[in-house]
Amino acid sequence: MKFFLDTANLQEITEARSYGILDGVTTNPSLMAKEGIRGKKAILAHYLAICNLVDGDISAEVLALDYKGMLDEAHELADLHSNIVVKIPCTMEGIQAINTLTQEGISTNCTLVFSLGQALLAAKAGATYVSPFVGRLDDICEDGISLVASIVECYDTYGFNTEVLAASIRHPQHVVRCLEVGADVATCPLSVIQSLFRHPLTDSGLAKFIADSLK
Ligand code: E4P
Repeated sequence: MKFFLDTANLQEITEARSYGILDGVTTNPSLMAKEGIRGKKAILAHYLAICNLVDGDISAEVLALDYKGMLDEAHELADLHSNIVVKIPCTMEGIQAINTLTQEGISTNCTLVFSLGQALLAAKAGATYVSPFVGRLDDICEDGISLVASIVECYDTYGFNTEVLAASIRHPQHVVRCLEVGADVATCPLSVIQSLFRHPLTDSGLAKFIADSLK
């Protein structure tokens, strides 16, 4: 399973990259705004900075809601760097745009996916990735991991090539469950990746080894 970092913060990306386990980055308009990145020029420059930090797929989201606007933005983003994956919302216009971009050979990430039906549309349009939002489903008392599992199973059954990118990951248990159900990618905040390192028995075991070595 690939590990993407879900952030637009360059320091966090640099930190996660130093662990040697980072395969890519996902961003969204909220994460860009959190970093104070506003305006087209600044946004494009920031995506380029991320691409220069990480040699992997970098999801950059369009802001337009109409088909033509999405395509115009997608072309601009894709021209920035070969690692850009254009993130497009799972709307009717979005699915149409993904279909066109797929025919043009541009990688896409179909985002804001909350149902198996939406995942079917993303795969049929040829999306490179589909992003089911695990945490946001859990937030409304649905089961985000079950959706990831269903998408993985159906894509396998029907031979779709779209990769399942589990998004809106909130804690290490989400990551482990995504691994168990066969997600291709989990995109996580830095804190979640760091939580995976920690185990109290590792800490106490290491403390005893060090203490014994000094006897
Ligand atoms: C990823 O592509 C999404 O932008 C992100 O995981 C959303 O996470 P959130 O639900 O924690 O905002």
